[in-house]
Amino acid sequence: MTPVSRALRTLALAATFLAGGLLQAEDKKELPKFDGNLQKYWADACARCHGVNGNGRDNNGGQLPDAGFDFTDSRKANKKKDSDWVKVTLNGKDKMPAFKDRMSEADVQKMITEIVRKFAAKH
Ligand code: HEC
Repeated sequence: MTPVSRALRTLALAATFLAGGLLQAEDKKELPKFDGNLQKYWADACARCHGVNGNGRDNNGGQLPDAGFDFTDSRKANKKKDSDWVKVTLNGKDKMPAFKDRMSEADVQKMITEIVRKFAAKH
């Protein structure tokens, strides 16, 4: 390998690391930390995938691509335990991101009982 190609390879590697770091920073910026307001946090951090109304649909009624679950479907929601929902929210699952770095377990518990559960009750 010539010194020039070695230098180029080093540059390419550096660029890859840099891009990776930027992407990660972008992810963190996109999902904010919990700020104490459950309703606002649902809108800021959860609604992009689950919908403002928890039904996995956007404001025009279109299916969101990463919804995963329709929280307004009470028949299905009633089969789920709060404790499991708390675990999924803290630790993530497949496309569902983990929130344990952004919310305390007590806050996640409140999010499930005061916001997520109520989507089924409303319909
Ligand atoms: C990037 C998209 C995305 C974001 C943001 C997101 N979720 Fe999810 N969520 C998913 C997907 C996809 C699943 C289904 C995971 C699976 O079972 O494979 C899921 C599943 C869940 C479940 C479990 C439902 C079940 O299957 O029983 C709960 C509870 C949940 N999310 C709550 C939340 C809460 C609360 C927030 C915000 C703090 C949130 N999610 C943010 C995509 C997302």
